[in-house]
Amino acid sequence: MTKRFAGKHVFVAGASSGINLGIAHGFAAEGAKLTVLSRSEEKIQAAARELRDAGAEALGIACDVRDYAGLEAAYAQAVAAFGKVDVLISGAAGNFLAPAVKLSANAFKTVVDIDLLGTFNVFRASWDHLAKPGASLIAITAGQAVHPMSFQIHACAAKAGVNMVTKCLALEWGPAGVRVNAISPGPIGDTEGMRRLADPEREKQIKGRLALRDYGEKRDIAEAALYLASPEAKYVTGTILNVDGGSDLGDAGANALAE
Ligand code: COA
Ligand code: NAP
Repeated sequence: MTKRFAGKHVFVAGASSGINLGIAHGFAAEGAKLTVLSRSEEKIQAAARELRDAGAEALGIACDVRDYAGLEAAYAQAVAAFGKVDVLISGAAGNFLAPAVKLSANAFKTVVDIDLLGTFNVFRASWDHLAKPGASLIAITAGQAVHPMSFQIHACAAKAGVNMVTKCLALEWGPAGVRVNAISPGPIGDTEGMRRLADPEREKQIKGRLALRDYGEKRDIAEAALYLASPEAKYVTGTILNVDGGSDLGDAGANALAE
């Protein structure tokens, strides 16, 4: 059977680990050529090796998404290797729990710079390098964008901005045949994000509040990205797709009929 993304160039920013590396593997299994980017040379080359071991053509580039000139050079290198970019994922992010009174202005700015400015940079710098018409852009956002959370004022503000960057670009770039969407994952097991936000003791409590009563898997987010990038989603743009076990619905524990 023909692989769904055979010959397509998929560029994933923030792909040295976790959900975004999982997305890269999802596209690799469907025949795509991968460019993966993150800050650490060592981690991103290990990720590229992992993708090559899985049978994909893969290029690793070390670059910080806060470095616009670095991103321009990264796209030039990626396009020289694999041609124009068909699918672009922007998922680099930083987060930690901190009460607002303990958060320095620089700490707030750091997270906004990585998540929000970084997403703008990754998308904006891609324009001349996108396969147009037909390119699909996907931001990785979070429930924090719409649900205020204590000790995450920085990530909530940043991800709210990511949702608006997604929607505004969808409006502006739609006429060129470029679709722009976002995925909002719920709690995904075995990720740095969940290690930072919830200790194992809280796991049961968090799961008990979810309609589907369990953490998601990286594969769940990869499947959503494959759908959004596919021809089957050709009329979908400007949407924020929750892949979150019902997290966005609120506390399901209180509403449960029976367990
Ligand atoms: N609580 C409060 N402030 C913190 C903090 C914490 N846990 N961690 C970092 N900061 C502050 C630092 O003190 C610094 O502020 P200051 O200059 O006023 O002292 C500021 O944040 C920047 O820290 P720095 O370590 O220089 O930033 P960085 O750019 O090297 O790293 C982070 C970015 C802080 C977001 C880091 O945690 C990171 O690299 N995260 C990526 C992985 C991740 O978060 N994964 C989950 C994704 S959801
Ligand atoms: P992760 O493994 O820490 O992934 C973050 C990635 O971003 C890493 O590859 C990191 O690599 C890269 N990165 C960080 N700062 C960067 C920068 N300035 N420039 C370039 N790359 C940078 O965390 P994760 O939990 O899988 O999260 C991935 C995405 O999913 C994030 O956007 C997060 O907000 C979102 N999300 C996660 C969850 C969850 O349950 N985990 C839930 C909702 C949303 P380097 O260190 O090499 O730079």
